[in-house]
Amino acid sequence: MRIFLDTANIDDIRRGAALGVVDGVTTNPTLVAREGVDYKTRVLEICDVVDGPISAECISMELEQLVAEARRVAAWHPNVVVKIPMSEVGLQATKRLSAEGIKINTTLVFSANQALLAAKAGTTFVSPFVGRLNDAGHDGTEVIREIVATYDAFNLPAQVLAASIRNPRDVTEAALAGAHIATIPAAVLFQMIQHPLTDRGIEIFLKDAQKYAPV
Ligand code: E4P
Repeated sequence: MRIFLDTANIDDIRRGAALGVVDGVTTNPTLVAREGVDYKTRVLEICDVVDGPISAECISMELEQLVAEARRVAAWHPNVVVKIPMSEVGLQATKRLSAEGIKINTTLVFSANQALLAAKAGTTFVSPFVGRLNDAGHDGTEVIREIVATYDAFNLPAQVLAASIRNPRDVTEAALAGAHIATIPAAVLFQMIQHPLTDRGIEIFLKDAQKYAPV
């Protein structure tokens, strides 16, 4: 499974990238607004740090404006993937833009039917929001499982990008459900490294290593 960072914080992205396990980054208007920076400037900074798909979100709600915005955003950098929210207009735009070779990440996906339509429109990535589904009393992992089964059954090439991840267990569940990618907040990525038994084990080994000459 590939791992993307779900943040627009450049320090977190640098720290995460240094681990050598980060394959891409996703951003959204909320994450960028939190940083108080210009969207394009930040995306280009991210492209300098991580050599992989970098998602940047469009906000236009009208078809021609959305297509024009997506073309502008896609032209920022060859690694930029244009995020388009799931909607009637979003599907129409995805069909046109994917035919031009522009990579799309269909965002705000909450059902297997939405994911099926996005794949048929030619999206590259589909982002089911696991945490927001769970928050609303649904089963986010089950939705991922349904999307993966649908894509597998019909050989649809879109990749399932588990989003809205809240904790390390969500990552494990997404992996077991067959998600191709999980996009993970930096804090969750660093939590994934930790285990109290690892800390305890290191402590014991360091203590015992005092009993012989250093190698
Ligand atoms: C990423 O593509 C999504 O925009 C993000 O994971 C949403 O996460 P949230 O539900 O924590 O806002």
